[in-house]
Amino acid sequence: MSTAIQEDKRKVTTHRLKEMKDRGEKISMLTAYDFSMASIIDQAGMDVILVGDSAANVMAGTVTTLPMTIEQIIYHGVSVMRAVKRALVVVDMPFGTCSGNPMKSLDAAIQIMKETGADTLKIEGGEEIIEDIKKIIGAGIPVMGHLGLMPQSINKYGTYTVRAKEKEEADKLISDALLLEEAGCYAITLEKIPAKLAGEITKKVSIPIIGIGAGPQVDGQVLVMHDMLGINNSFSPKFLRKYENLNEIITNAVKHYISDVKSKDFPNERESY
Ligand code: KIV
Repeated sequence: MSTAIQEDKRKVTTHRLKEMKDRGEKISMLTAYDFSMASIIDQAGMDVILVGDSAANVMAGTVTTLPMTIEQIIYHGVSVMRAVKRALVVVDMPFGTCSGNPMKSLDAAIQIMKETGADTLKIEGGEEIIEDIKKIIGAGIPVMGHLGLMPQSINKYGTYTVRAKEKEEADKLISDALLLEEAGCYAITLEKIPAKLAGEITKKVSIPIIGIGAGPQVDGQVLVMHDMLGINNSFSPKFLRKYENLNEIITNAVKHYISDVKSKDFPNERESY
């Protein structure tokens, strides 16, 4: 651990993320959905833990994130919050809970904050839901925006390819980022957009920009834990760096256990009462 923030055991806050941007220190962010993994990730020194609605994909096996319910994200949020002492914990607002009805969105946001005890929320979308976001921030709930590829809008896009390659969409993305900053978001996640555009937005706004598939010119990086640990080996987009091949490690361990049971090697005398 080389950087100051990792040696600093104080709780990470939205304010400290802004300080990190200002002094050029990169922000680390990773998803977690359960107590055991959140505990390991927090103790390893992660700055931000995201209870992402990607739980729908990697925990529940659904094809999109759309089926995630408010009760399910709360379950994951509560499990993570029981483990985390230092990282800032961000919980995703699931599909349909923040979609153009500010009072309804506020109710959902309050429910998630109250029942999980999380630090902040993340919301996908820009101009179309800006009044919802203002209402939530106005109630004292810190919000991280999410622009670029927004998985909750997959049925609108029809594909998970890189967003904002054309000028019109890039211009809208820049204007949405500025709107989110003006509305009071403390940070924005940018997903799967050209690195140059992400760098431009990072310079234009004063709040931290966290990228996933958005190149190196942003203030921090986020990955889905199952992807970076190589648990799911059928998902290998260009932007992903796999730090382990847990799929192989777990498969070998499970096969070894099966073989020990079958051969009556397990349990032995020392493993018996
Ligand atoms: O749900 C999630 O894991 C996310 C990341 C892809 C940023 O939103």
